[in-house]
Formats: sequence, structure tokens, C-alpha cells
Amino acid sequence: MPQTRAEVIRQIRSFSEADMTETEFLNMLEENMLPLQQFFTYYRCAIMEIETKFKVLNEQFSLNGESNPIEFIQSRIKSYGSISRKIISKNIPRTLEAIENNIHDIAGIRVVCSFIQDIYRLADCFLQQDDITLIKQKDYIRNPKPNGYRSLHLIVAVPIFLENEKRLVKVEVQLRTIAMDFWASLEHKLRYKKNLPHEKLELLTDSLKQCADESALWDERMQDIRNIIESD
Ligand code: GTP
Ligand code: MG
Repeated sequence: MPQTRAEVIRQIRSFSEADMTETEFLNMLEENMLPLQQFFTYYRCAIMEIETKFKVLNEQFSLNGESNPIEFIQSRIKSYGSISRKIISKNIPRTLEAIENNIHDIAGIRVVCSFIQDIYRLADCFLQQDDITLIKQKDYIRNPKPNGYRSLHLIVAVPIFLENEKRLVKVEVQLRTIAMDFWASLEHKLRYKKNLPHEKLELLTDSLKQCADESALWDERMQDIRNIIESD
């Protein structure tokens, strides 16, 4: 067994993907908690940084005499199980370095806004900040997924400042309205009911798509109502 923290880290990095099964990999994770804790700490710190940025923007918009654009913020660190499933499905080498480089949603933040315009305004202000690097953007609001899913996704890198180093950490930010969040939460729950007969599943898929499109109309109407109120 390695004795020091550095040895543990060296041992983890030295494992090669080829000669390790999933069970061995999970056992290895359990035996080497310390570097893992450090690994996840980076992501927790990055979440704190990004959450603060959105909270500051929320405060600033309300200082301008506008109502707060953010309804609520949720964050999460990806679970071990979910990371393991992604490693297997995307054939990612079993090292912390490879996980860091290839999985972009270990730290996830969901910013739920009142109106569609708020999403783009917040995203613009956020991305203009000089310590934020945009890695990837997916606009599922302007280009919804075929099932009706809508949200704006940003993968960004943010620096965190530690005792002796500055690290760039990736975070997935999802911005959506309350209506989009309501739909996505329920669809996520229903998605796991997989043992439905084919015909029923098709019917439900169509029905869910219809709900997504209808709730998108609600978002548009709410935005129109706000525009009319604000133009007075
Ligand atoms: P992963 O799904 O994370 O492997 O990556 P990807 O490249 O497919 O990312 P994408 O940006 O499409 O989706 C990332 C996240 O968005 C998911 O983990 C979900 O949280 C959310 N998401 C994407 N599509 C859907 C959907 O159809 N329904 C719901 N409920 N959530 C979705
Ligand atoms: Mg994901």
C-alpha cells in the first residue's frame, strides 16, 4: 500500500486502462480516497465560484430596478456511479487525468430563470467575464432536441485559487426557464420507466413532445407580456 499522499496519486495515475476491469477500478477508487477527495474538492470550489458569479449578477440586475432574473440555482457533483457509467460508455481511460479531460459535467450548475430573455442576458454577462473560458455551447432553446428538451448549455473553465496553485476547472452550466425545468424534471423521471410496450412508449413520447412545445408557447407569451409591461 502506498504510504504518502503523493504515492497514492502516483499509483492512481500509473494504472493503465487496459489491464483493469470495472470492478478493479471501483475497488481502486475505494482504496484511494484521499486523491479522490482532492479531485472532487476542485469541482466543489469551482461550483462555489460560478454560483457566486450568478448570484452577483442577480443582485446587480435587481439594483437596476429590475426584478431578479434568477428564480433559483441548483448544483451537483456527478456521482461515482454516473461517472463510472460514462467512463464505460465513452471508453474513457481509467485515470483521474483522463476523467478530468473527458468528462465535462462532473460539476454541474442549473440556473433557472424567470424569462427567456434573462437566460441570454445572464449568459452574455457571465461569458464576458475575463476569468471565464467558454469551451462549448449548446443552444437547445433556439434548437430544441427532437424530444422537445430546451435549455442553454455552457461548458466553461473557471480558475480556482489554492494554496500554491491556480487550477482551471470545467463546469457545465444549464440555463433554463421554470417551464423548461418543469418539463425536463418530469421527462427525466419518466425516461427511466423503460419497460413500457413499444406503442405506449411512442404515444407517451409524442405526448411529452407536445407538452414541451406547449410550455415553450407559455414562455413566449410570458415574455411578450413582460415586454408590453416594460414598454409602458
Ligand atoms: P451527456 O449526456 O452529459 O453525456 O453529454 P451530452 O453531450 O449528451 O450533453 P447534452 O448537453 O446534450 O446534455 C447534458 C445534460 O443535459 C444531461 O445530463 C441532462 O442533465 C440534460 N439533458 C439533455 N438532454 C435532455 C433530455 O432530453 N431530457 C432531460 N430531462 N434532460 C436532458
Ligand atoms: Mg450530463
